[in-house]
Amino acid sequence: MSAVTAMPPAETVATRPVLEGRDLSKRFWVRRGRGPMTRKASLRAVEGVSISLEAGRVTAVVGESGSGKTTVARMLARIIAPDSGQLLLDGEPVSRRRSKRYASQVQMVFQDPFASLNPVHRVRYHLMRPLRIHHMVDQDIDTAVAELLQRVALTPAGQFIDKFPHELSGGQRQRVAIARALAVRPRVLLADEPVSMLDVSVRLGLLNLLADLRDREHMAILYVTHDIASARYLADRIVVMYAGQVIESAPSVSLTDHPAHPYTQLLLSAAPDPDRVARPKLAGSGAPPSLLAPPSGCRFHPRCPHAMEICTRVAPPSVDIGSDHTAACWLQVDDARRGVPEIETQASDPQADGNLTKFSAGGTGG
Ligand SMILES: Nc1ncnc2c1ncn2[C@@H]1O[C@H](COP(=O)(O)OP(=O)(O)OP(=O)(O)O)[C@@H](O)[C@H]1O
Ligand code: SF4
Ligand SMILES: [Mg+2]
Repeated sequence: MSAVTAMPPAETVATRPVLEGRDLSKRFWVRRGRGPMTRKASLRAVEGVSISLEAGRVTAVVGESGSGKTTVARMLARIIAPDSGQLLLDGEPVSRRRSKRYASQVQMVFQDPFASLNPVHRVRYHLMRPLRIHHMVDQDIDTAVAELLQRVALTPAGQFIDKFPHELSGGQRQRVAIARALAVRPRVLLADEPVSMLDVSVRLGLLNLLADLRDREHMAILYVTHDIASARYLADRIVVMYAGQVIESAPSVSLTDHPAHPYTQLLLSAAPDPDRVARPKLAGSGAPPSLLAPPSGCRFHPRCPHAMEICTRVAPPSVDIGSDHTAACWLQVDDARRGVPEIETQASDPQADGNLTKFSAGGTGG
């Protein structure tokens, strides 16, 4: 999606989180090697991620492919269980047992609307089903389905209700998927790359629909994306992930205007900017690390032009840098706490560390 002017943030109201994930971690066991050499290895997909979703707010999770965004969303949706950490709904710990109540409060929308809608069923069936399962129908079913279609701006509803998924455009299919999620009247919507498979021309309409759900229906929305420009457009807050960890978090305008972490600066430098005529030039190469054996210290250090000796050994703490803005980077920690007499960046001497690479435009795909 092309970069566009940020939407005005929703009206500021003191609000407590509807859904919170605290210190969530998840490993996956994967097979490595072939034949008799096959062994199981632990892949550290997400480590120590905390995130909170508030009513009437969109929180974006941004990062490269493989940074753990979907895993966080799936843990919040309780599709997968975290290995450690806690979920809280309205401040109350969520029990590990599956519950219909949780599903009626927290719904997820997936990246591929074609895959998430059964091709043999019409729109009516897709929307009727959750209404019935969650006993949401206190009126004529067609009226309830039509209302759902109106909420996602598929009007007149009569034009869509009897269609099969293949008879709809990608954008319309994603709207049906969102309507299906809305059928149970959730308060939290987890949208995992909801526009990335859609034609550029319809993406903005979908983002505006999410903004409407936030503003009109006061929903708490998680927007997962690799596109920081769309996050700035839609979200009130942006959380940046790198290699399974949160590395920066702030109100979206503050984060995009004053990025504190070198990785966020990389994402922004690679994002399209309508005010910039030339394509951004990013020298060198660099890719996210393997999560089977992530780098020691700061996981970004092999790519960071500011890496210091301490970065290779010790993971930086998440530091409050004011105005509700946090960043996990040693550059934000004062010298005394860092335990070194002065900042000596290796950027000035690229030969100093053979691992050091500069940013690449190709590193932001997702
Ligand atoms: N079920 C699984 N089994 C094994 N590894 C997994 C599984 N799910 C995710 N992973 C791995 O965990 C890491 C994080 O994956 P995740 O899908 O959360 O990333 P992502 O940020 O959503 O990436 P993308 O932008 O490509 O969707 C990746 O290395 C991925 O290969
Ligand atoms: S902690 Fe060090 S390596 Fe990591 S982003 Fe900050 S300066 Fe770069
Ligand atoms: Mg994903």
